[in-house]
Amino acid sequence: MTPRFGALAGGASSPVRAGAAVGGDPFVQTYGRGAYAYDDDGRAHVDYVMAYGPLLFGHAHPSQVAGLDSLAARGSVFGATHAEEVRLADRMAQHLPAMELLRFTSTGTEAMMSALRVARAYTGRPRIVRFAGNYHGHFDAALASAGASAAASGAVAGGISPGARGDALVARYNDLHDLDAILDDREDEIAAIAVEPVAANMGLVLPDSGFLDGLFARARRIGALVVFDEVITWLRLGLGGAQGALGYVPDLTALGKIMGGGFPLAAFGGRADVMAALAPEGSAFAGGTFSGNPFCIALGHRTLDAIESDPHVYARLDRNARLLAGGLREIFAALALDISVVQCASMVDFKFRLGPPVRNFDEAAQADRLAFASYYHAMRERGVLLAPSPNELMFLSTEHGEREIALTLEAAGASFRMLRDDGLI
Ligand SMILES: Cc1ncc(COP(=O)(O)O)c(C=O)c1O
Repeated sequence: MTPRFGALAGGASSPVRAGAAVGGDPFVQTYGRGAYAYDDDGRAHVDYVMAYGPLLFGHAHPSQVAGLDSLAARGSVFGATHAEEVRLADRMAQHLPAMELLRFTSTGTEAMMSALRVARAYTGRPRIVRFAGNYHGHFDAALASAGASAAASGAVAGGISPGARGDALVARYNDLHDLDAILDDREDEIAAIAVEPVAANMGLVLPDSGFLDGLFARARRIGALVVFDEVITWLRLGLGGAQGALGYVPDLTALGKIMGGGFPLAAFGGRADVMAALAPEGSAFAGGTFSGNPFCIALGHRTLDAIESDPHVYARLDRNARLLAGGLREIFAALALDISVVQCASMVDFKFRLGPPVRNFDEAAQADRLAFASYYHAMRERGVLLAPSPNELMFLSTEHGEREIALTLEAAGASFRMLRDDGLI
């Protein structure tokens, strides 16, 4: 790591930001405004990282950041329950009927870790099943074969005890046969099956038709709970999240990212009888100094206000994402490249791999990492910032309009022609 990162371990507070997967100098950001990230020379880049998902309204949107000093002046953290916290929980439960009761945390990691603990306490069973290439945060049982940041940083087994590793069994996404093999002989040990209902941490991978139905059927048969990780998808796919869009009622759900309007706010919750396993009523502990703090809760209200008051927001986001996906498809067609572009709501992705869209982490791993690294740098030189890892995808915000998309497509066309000239594709 270069000396300019001083005492900052690894030069980043979250490993993916160090850019090991693409090499070269990591992007150092000075500020963000709308759809743009500004580097340390003040140069603007159309930003598709969007902080890895939270910034549905782009950087520093006035609906989120106006008057924050007066908000803070009322006290930023209380250590006591407050009325706005209760009101936000009620507002959320109206949009997500499966969340009869919920509790706030600060991060998605805490939300998933706590949901799985509650599942264990409720069922009295020790293990969870999850899927390779999904990412649920950086707690011990979540990291083996995880996607996103974890996969971008190479080895992730350090410091995790064999016991914690054994708590989680990992199946292949979109593969019910593999799930059956994992469940075999262990059915009465499984507390929960945890899943990203639309997977956004190995690129963008949509659930095959029948996959989630089959998952629910198996969970019901063996008496395990279904935990939806909607840390990315809630408010990205709409006010009802993936569960609303796809028509599922999970037993527990974890939320995060967009709900805090760019500030750390997350939550988990679900069936009232299951959440009764949570202390103080039950035996499963989950709490935090900053959990439900009035500052972030107010941002949660602002986020819902902004979405609820703009009935066309998702249609606009979807339209622009389709524009971007369509433009990329044209570029690939012109180069006679059989690369699949995947789009869901305001998420767009493709992999450096020929053929149909990726269905699981094994297929995602077949993508050409060298070509991606060259593409990342070529795009950055042309003023477009992508996440520095092939496991990520492009997040659009309400601030990514036709101008930004045209600029992106121009850069992508030029970058692909360069890659072709260099023999990389
Ligand atoms: C689906 C999913 N779950 C959980 C998490 C963990 O959230 P956090 O980084 O806020 O701890 C992430 C983070 O990227 C995520 O994408």
